[in-house]
Amino acid sequence: MEYITIHQPSKIVFGTGSFDQFIRDIRVSGLKRLFVLVVPFLKNQIDQKFNLLADSGIAYHINAGLNTEPGFSHYHHYLEEAKAFQPDGVIGIGGGSVLDVAKLLAAMINNTQKIDEVVGIGLLKKRDLYMACIPTTSGTGSEVSPNAILLDESDGMKKGIISPFLVPDAAYIDPLLTDGMLSEIMASTGMDALTHCLEAFTNKFAHPMIDLYALEGIRLIGRSLVKACANDLQARTDLSLGSLYGGMCLGPVNTAAVHALSYPLGSGFKIAHGLANALLLPYVMEYNLPSDIKRYKQVALALGAELKASDEETAREGVAIVRSLLQQCKLPLKLSEIGIPEESIPAMARSAVKIQRLMKNNIREILLDDAIGIYQKAY
Ligand SMILES: [Fe+2]
Repeated sequence: MEYITIHQPSKIVFGTGSFDQFIRDIRVSGLKRLFVLVVPFLKNQIDQKFNLLADSGIAYHINAGLNTEPGFSHYHHYLEEAKAFQPDGVIGIGGGSVLDVAKLLAAMINNTQKIDEVVGIGLLKKRDLYMACIPTTSGTGSEVSPNAILLDESDGMKKGIISPFLVPDAAYIDPLLTDGMLSEIMASTGMDALTHCLEAFTNKFAHPMIDLYALEGIRLIGRSLVKACANDLQARTDLSLGSLYGGMCLGPVNTAAVHALSYPLGSGFKIAHGLANALLLPYVMEYNLPSDIKRYKQVALALGAELKASDEETAREGVAIVRSLLQQCKLPLKLSEIGIPEESIPAMARSAVKIQRLMKNNIREILLDDAIGIYQKAY
């Protein structure tokens, strides 16, 4: 067996009410100055919770301005603001965009490295500020992952900063924070989480230690996604747990072609990360399936498929279930439904195959013509 190294937060608090535990933990943490990045729609709720810190001598600065998938320009803006506040801890409360920027800030506030010196795997030299993440969507997994993904506006490419220093000190996952989320956001972020699990389980570098999380995550998300979109608390809890498991897959094994093919949709056409992955997932499953029918059969069974006459038929049932989830959640099934011009496919394919940090993980090789073929099938 190949060795595997797993970095996780030293504290993970999961379950309803864990946000209140975060406040209690912060009160006794010894931290004195917190820079807090919050998703805009929770600003009032978070203000009220942080007011509870007023008598504990902890100063905090809350910014609730980030409402889009972040680029380097956002990062530079927040870095200046955070440096001016001189925090000893950074807290991210939001979806993947907020968490990724918050993680990066915690590592860069006292760092002389420039952003383009840390893009890539393992180039970040340190993080000396406390860092905690509190997700408000069930999708990104960023609260436990070593990844931060930002758009580089200079070349229109999404860039990954991957480092153990980006794994937060603590993650608090509270399903109460997803209460009342728009169903299309719940659906697309939940499909992103499913993709994390599925791409880890069917990965060229899949590993038994991560398979545990990946397969259970697929099971949890498969059974809960539709009900979570109807705001059922038990289903939202299952989805949050599946999303956490998906995040645990991201560091040691990571994603593959779905994510690589989805990035050009985000950078070129501002399609949200979860939505882009959701749309492409069944097409990549169909492409990959012949390369490992046994694994795709396990995926299908975890999604609730019944055994068919052959392993391949069972495996294909998994693709049908994913399509059915998309339909039940009213997510688009075709690139043509989301305003992507067909003539942009070759350029998107050229861009996607360059993302070798993910494409190398894909169980079946994807060359330029293959990428074009997958986009065309998805059109
Ligand atoms: Fe993702």
